[in-house]
Amino acid sequence: MPSLFDPIELGAIKAPNRILMAPMTRARGTRGHVPTPMMIDYYAQRASAGLIISEAIGINQLGLGWPHATGLWSPEQVAGWRKITDAVHQNGGRIIAQLWQMGRVVHPSFLDGGKPVSASATTAPNHAHTYSGKQPYEEARALTIDEIADVVQQFRQAARNAIEAGFDGVQLHAANGYLIDQFLRNSSNLRDDAYGGSIANRVRFLRETTQAVVDTIGADRTGVRLSPNGETQGVKDSDPLPVFTAAAEAMSQIGIAHLELREPPINGTFGVGDMAPLARELRGAFKGPLILNSDFDSARAQAELDQGTGDAVAFGRPFIANPDFVRRVAEGIELASDDPATWFTQGPEGYIDYPAATARQAKSA
Ligand SMILES: Cc1cc2nc3c(=O)[nH]c(=O)nc-3n(C[C@H](O)[C@H](O)[C@H](O)COP(=O)(O)O)c2cc1C
Repeated sequence: MPSLFDPIELGAIKAPNRILMAPMTRARGTRGHVPTPMMIDYYAQRASAGLIISEAIGINQLGLGWPHATGLWSPEQVAGWRKITDAVHQNGGRIIAQLWQMGRVVHPSFLDGGKPVSASATTAPNHAHTYSGKQPYEEARALTIDEIADVVQQFRQAARNAIEAGFDGVQLHAANGYLIDQFLRNSSNLRDDAYGGSIANRVRFLRETTQAVVDTIGADRTGVRLSPNGETQGVKDSDPLPVFTAAAEAMSQIGIAHLELREPPINGTFGVGDMAPLARELRGAFKGPLILNSDFDSARAQAELDQGTGDAVAFGRPFIANPDFVRRVAEGIELASDDPATWFTQGPEGYIDYPAATARQAKSA
């Protein structure tokens, strides 16, 4: 069985190790959703990851409702990301763009008061982060069939823009209760047309967006993230295994470069782990490289690789405070801990000021 330090081919991307950086929103963009110079340092510092999956990036304003997150729809945004991807490549790394349409969790304040869109007219629980603090979510309106086709085209255009911005590929964000996930699961998809009801219908939007991106940039540069187990942001399914088996099989048929499963374990430390991960059950449904995520340390990650549950592991929070996480794992160097208070603040603190391990730390490891 492979080691975390063995290389892996994820489609066209040759990752030198299987310790990948999970996508993490860090809110360091401008108010106009353009990348800032400090993001160049942040990503360049982390280039030793087998692959960096970028923070979620909005495909357009309709799909983006996170303060200071960035987008990929304007030339300015593409130019901003180009500087980041260039720096990662100069440091020997690889980076793909996570493409984001948030659906019903876009607060109307991002849309000049307009309504967010979703599979159906539903409202997310809890509160949205907005430029004027936390505000309750408002009801979304259901996309029409014609509008669904428009969103598919918007994903296609964003993928094209990602390649223009120098990314090595993209990952469709189909996890965590955002738009594609809102179509997949039956707590948020109440449609009775070709995009709702049966499992095949609920998977249709994922299949069409993925196919459109694949037709535009190639299957070997396209990956997908799903979150099969448990509830996220009020999105859940009464019987998740058959839904995600069908989704994984559809992705396998399209032949995407990787499938990532974000599955918090029961008693996990990030997100609601209200049921056990389904990765073992889904393993056979997807023939390509399978990436596991949530709450892994290096020992448990290696154990899953040994058992053949997955082919690589994406680590999120460990990369926040350990830009040289891969080396620290390799050499047994003590890990620094991150500070959640600076996850979404706009300054350099808690972002680009976590140092790489010192020679002394390495020596005493
Ligand atoms: C600060 C922060 C931001 C995150 N932003 C995203 C995101 O943009 N897209 C996404 O799919 N997941 C996001 N996540 C979830 C992570 O990708 C990952 O699933 C989670 O941190 C669990 O992995 P870990 O235990 O290795 O940290 C975020 C998590 C954190 C802590």
